[in-house]
Amino acid sequence: MRIEKDNIVIRSATIDDALQLNKWWNDGRVMEYVGFPNGVGEPLEDTIKNIESRKDEYSQLCIIEIDGKAVGEINYNIKGNTAYPGWKICDANYQNKDYGPKIIMVLFEFLFTDETINSKCPVEKIAWDTLLENKRAQHVYESKLGVRKVGVKKDFWKDPTGKLRTAVDYEISREEFFDSRK
Ligand SMILES: CC(C)(COP(=O)(O)OP(=O)(O)OC[C@H]1O[C@@H](n2cnc3c(N)ncnc32)[C@H](O)[C@@H]1OP(=O)(O)O)[C@@H](O)C(=O)NCCC(=O)NCCS
Repeated sequence: MRIEKDNIVIRSATIDDALQLNKWWNDGRVMEYVGFPNGVGEPLEDTIKNIESRKDEYSQLCIIEIDGKAVGEINYNIKGNTAYPGWKICDANYQNKDYGPKIIMVLFEFLFTDETINSKCPVEKIAWDTLLENKRAQHVYESKLGVRKVGVKKDFWKDPTGKLRTAVDYEISREEFFDSRK
């Protein structure tokens, strides 16, 4: 897949991105926001396998580029009528610069309108979560994007350091997305 909006590109990852993705995933400073304060400790071969396993439009691993520079990643899976995405601006120089909401809205529009996806499997809802500690992400979702918090999963996961983590769940329906743009 490939989406372009102003100076932002979101495109499917290729084997050429494996080194960069692996570097991000093994970097605790990047991964602490998603619960891996020491990184995931993944060998490069596993990152390559992950990229190679994404064979169709319903399961994608993507690179976010700003002004031609790889600055982060997006992944999503579509099951039934729901898309489950995740995103990270990994390069800290590009965080807190208002790119997140733009990137997320561009992705939502793609998921709700892409012909290839929606002709076979119309996406009615997008659902994702964030860790309770990730106050920046919650602020962006609730105050900047105005999306619906649907619940909290207390102690849903023990992170690799043994700490129990709580997640905050969000959803946006097709109707809510198009209404928000009127
Ligand atoms: C979360 C993320 C997508 C947000 O995108 P972004 O472009 O950095 O966000 P913005 O610049 O639009 O906005 C950041 C807002 O958070 C606020 N903020 C920054 N740190 C904060 C904190 N610790 N607590 C609460 N709010 C905070 C800023 O003041 C700003 O709000 P404002 O515009 O109302 O002043 C991005 O920072 C990111 O990818 N972070 C790393 C990985 C991650 O957390 N992914 C999401 C996992 S669910």
